[in-house]
Amino acid sequence: MSTILVTGGTGTLGSQVVTRLRDAGHEVRVLSRHAPDHPVDLRDGGGLDAATAGAEVVVHCASSPRGGDETAAGHLIEAARRAGTVRNVVYISIVGVDQVPYPYYQVKHKVERMLEESGLGWTVLRTTQFHDLVHGYFRAMAKLPVLLVPAGTRDQPISVDEVADRLAALAAAPPAGRVPDMGGPESRDMTDLARAYLRGTGRRRPVLPVRLPGKAFAAFRRGAHLTPAHAVGKATFEDFLSAR
Ligand SMILES: NC(=O)c1ccc[n+]([C@@H]2O[C@H](COP(=O)([O-])OP(=O)(O)OC[C@H]3O[C@@H](n4cnc5c(N)ncnc54)[C@H](OP(=O)(O)O)[C@@H]3O)[C@@H](O)[C@H]2O)c1
Repeated sequence: MSTILVTGGTGTLGSQVVTRLRDAGHEVRVLSRHAPDHPVDLRDGGGLDAATAGAEVVVHCASSPRGGDETAAGHLIEAARRAGTVRNVVYISIVGVDQVPYPYYQVKHKVERMLEESGLGWTVLRTTQFHDLVHGYFRAMAKLPVLLVPAGTRDQPISVDEVADRLAALAAAPPAGRVPDMGGPESRDMTDLARAYLRGTGRRRPVLPVRLPGKAFAAFRRGAHLTPAHAVGKATFEDFLSAR
């Protein structure tokens, strides 16, 4: 059994990873800005040494699309080096981070490279969007009388439970470098997913595809964030909706 630090262990994915690792008998430390265990803002790094001391594995799930992930990763890598006990840093990334010129994706790609060059043992898993994210997007959009979706764009959402299973297994294994991507079972047009959301939540709205400008959205239209060759997820978006 190992001592494992889970950054972002209070989040959608991180909390599921924490549960699995504890159930497997590991000693798990939970870090986030608001975690009772280790309340650390990775962007300034105060308190990180106490969180990493003696840790053998770090599962890095903390992230903020609002920025700061690169600085946060730098602090985490330095603290893991100082601890001297960390044999594997497991990082969750997104399919297409090297293909889609979307600022959040570019930062995640940079963090992948920082880990590769860190001299630490590392493992990187890229997945497609979680059902929760797609659901959250539609829920926010459904506040308008018309549900707007990006035109000509597909998505391949995956169950966060299945991603947590994989991440927990990777945390218990030796460093593996970049492992095969994980995608949801179906790649579906956003219009189709929006209609599934409306059916599943009993709402009625016209769905309006909108063509979004820019290179990032062109890459999404090309499907650079999809992984049809790794459609390994089992739960569909409808399964997710009916379980809620
Ligand atoms: N959502 C998706 O569809 C998806 C798909 C593929 C990969 N991923 C990746 O999976 C990871 C987790 O995503 P998620 O959806 O579970 O995110 P989430 O629910 O928003 O959780 C983010 C976690 O990070 C913590 N956090 C944020 N900023 C922090 C900071 N400066 N210092 C310390 N902790 C911080 C948050 O807690 P506090 O607020 O308490 O700090 C929270 O525990 C991310 O790396 C994301 O890129 C997500």
